[in-house]
Amino acid sequence: MISITAKKPEKFRSDLLVYCAVRRKDKMPICAESVRKVVKSLWKSGDFRAKSGETVLLYSDLLGHGHGTRPAAARILIVGLGEAKENVDEVREQLRLAGGTVAGSARKCKAAKVLVVLPQMKEILPQMKEILPQMQEINAADTAEAMSEGLVLGNYSFDRYKKEDKDRPEPVRKFYLTGSDSASSLRRGAKRGLVTAVAACRARDMANEPGNVWTPEKFARFGKELQRRYGIKCRVLEKPAMKKLGMGGILAVNQGSASPPKLVILEYISDKKNPTLMLVGKGLTFDSGGVSLKPAAGMEDMKYDMCGGAAVISAMQVVGEEQPANVNVIALIPATDNMSGGAAVKPGDIITHFGGKTSEIINTDAEGRLILADALAYGIKTYGPDAVVDLATLTGAVIIGLGHHKTGLLANNDSLAGRLLAAGESTGEPLWRLPLGPEYSKQIESKVADIKNTGGRPAGTITAAAYLQEFVGETPWAHCDIAGTAWGFTEKSYVPKGPSGIATRTLVTLIRNWKPLNKS
Ligand code: BES
Ligand code: MN
Ligand code: ZN
Repeated sequence: MISITAKKPEKFRSDLLVYCAVRRKDKMPICAESVRKVVKSLWKSGDFRAKSGETVLLYSDLLGHGHGTRPAAARILIVGLGEAKENVDEVREQLRLAGGTVAGSARKCKAAKVLVVLPQMKEILPQMKEILPQMQEINAADTAEAMSEGLVLGNYSFDRYKKEDKDRPEPVRKFYLTGSDSASSLRRGAKRGLVTAVAACRARDMANEPGNVWTPEKFARFGKELQRRYGIKCRVLEKPAMKKLGMGGILAVNQGSASPPKLVILEYISDKKNPTLMLVGKGLTFDSGGVSLKPAAGMEDMKYDMCGGAAVISAMQVVGEEQPANVNVIALIPATDNMSGGAAVKPGDIITHFGGKTSEIINTDAEGRLILADALAYGIKTYGPDAVVDLATLTGAVIIGLGHHKTGLLANNDSLAGRLLAAGESTGEPLWRLPLGPEYSKQIESKVADIKNTGGRPAGTITAAAYLQEFVGETPWAHCDIAGTAWGFTEKSYVPKGPSGIATRTLVTLIRNWKPLNKS
């Protein structure tokens, strides 16, 4: 889908040739030499200021003289990056946004073959340094990586079930990147961006599939597929094994269901001596609320309640591709739907989780924590990981607190929390930390069992995390509540309206940069 070319951009035959431009206050935008004249006249006329998302489309055969040699491409697109930024994470985001904008524009003009000229750092750096002397330099590989991510993520669409709409613009088939930097570093960066973006798109696909298609069984099959493709070991715990192990949480949630639950476990072991990171993702393939039924309006969105599981299993696809040498990664996806009916779990019921802790069910709609609790306790007991990260569309309350712009982060370990915050910043998937503490844990004390599954309306996101905390002991652990970001995430050129694929890229970044945690 993405290749590097060393051909001169002007000589390269494509449907669309793309240049980037950086905005400056009261001066013409910074851009590559070959489009400087055009950009200058566009800027003088006030038609183009190189704001983020701003574009100009030019047709090569209409380009008059005085604009240099006519390129072999049918069209030229100039895309604004916005103002120069000091921070590399911000520059990455600008490039991703530009990539998303390019993908959108390319689609509109039905371009099948697109060449993007990466902003030539060597060429524009002196001018950038004039504006921002403190600027951190982004290297060629990272530039190619961020642009590739934006292109691939922005090129995404889910059309499987749109059989009749023949006029929908097709996704771009092939992107080419070029730049003055060494082709090998561009290639390395583009590859990195491509594998993560493809994985995030895979997570979007899983979420877009309806609850009658993306069932727990599908999670299991995808796990087996990763085993076949990459040699990552996949084990699937079925209902009888869950009964034997005493996984009362996942079994309770599954009680009203017509299809059996699965606990999908993936083991990537690079070396037994390496530190082990454990990932857990909520794979609730449809959440009706159960006996504590949800209102009908918007209930269809609850097919997205498996986005935590999708992020985790897609991140494992990248682990398979890259086979990191310095870390072991274990992934657990507890998967079931949450339905009502004669056999379903009821408010007032008391269940026993893996490990023996009992829980009073107050609300059957607080089911995510029930399936995660078993997976966390079982995973920690079985693998003794050095750190645990779980992801879940866990509470509506996180949307009230943080809206659709930031993932809620709760952790019992500051350095793990710091890693996740940093990974989120560099991938454009920001998180915001909320506290934990005994005051909150007190809200889930039960009169009849060890704990209860809801803590009332106040601090709903925190009490949900406090429930999970009961099952991780002293193991460094972080919980990401992605209920607000898994779909309907912040509007961006590279994020579609439906599922965002959130957290896949954050997890990949966390894994790629993994080193043992400080004690904290
Ligand atoms: N899957 C939902 C959380 C959710 C709600 C995600 C809205 C995205 C949008 C979760 O299982 C749930 O129902 N949580 C309840 C907990 C409550 C009953 C304590 C909630 O947030 O209302
Ligand atoms: Mn629920
Ligand atoms: Zn749920």
